[in-house]
Amino acid sequence: MNTLHPAPALLRQATRADIPGMHRVRRAVRENPLTSDVIREEHYNPAIEETGRGWVIEDQEGGEVLAFAVGNAQTGNIWALFVDPAHEGRGFGRRLQTEMVAWLFSQGLERLNLGTAPGTRAEAFYRATGWTYLGIDAHGEASFEMRRG
Ligand SMILES: CC(C)(COP(=O)(O)OP(=O)(O)OC[C@H]1O[C@@H](n2cnc3c(N)ncnc32)[C@H](O)[C@@H]1OP(=O)(O)O)[C@@H](O)C(=O)NCCC(=O)NCCS
Repeated sequence: MNTLHPAPALLRQATRADIPGMHRVRRAVRENPLTSDVIREEHYNPAIEETGRGWVIEDQEGGEVLAFAVGNAQTGNIWALFVDPAHEGRGFGRRLQTEMVAWLFSQGLERLNLGTAPGTRAEAFYRATGWTYLGIDAHGEASFEMRRG
């Protein structure tokens, strides 16, 4: 890939065919990494088809999943927002978040929530993109919320 002129990247809703690519990104991140097999490929299917929806950003040349997000429409929880480390800082996190947040609020939710590891790039990202910091929760995670409007 030419890093000065990266290929265009398409955002679209995730399907079950994307799950291996989503899990590849999930295992590639260095912050908020997977520390066990608690999240496995079979967990994505209900998350994108039953309890919520997922989105991917794919490389339009090779079709590779470069970033993904999954939101839970029942609880308002951000289940996943992950960008391949080689593609951070290209606006993928913001694009995915904008799409996901709009869809979750369109489902009638009043409040969204998420937790992330304190002191990470993700924490700074959430502070910079409209989330309200609530404090450290019982699991030691930085807790955030976003309210409608
Ligand atoms: C956190 C993460 C999703 C951000 O995605 P990204 O595509 O690199 O972020 P973007 O390029 O869309 O940046 C969006 C905005 O956040 C800001 N931002 C990103 N990282 C930041 C940081 N460390 N400090 C301050 N602002 C930051 C950017 O400046 C940008 O603002 P702009 O749109 O006004 O220029 C990505 O770094 C990631 O996947 N991290 C590892 C996995 C992880 O921790 N995921 C969250 C799990 S809860």
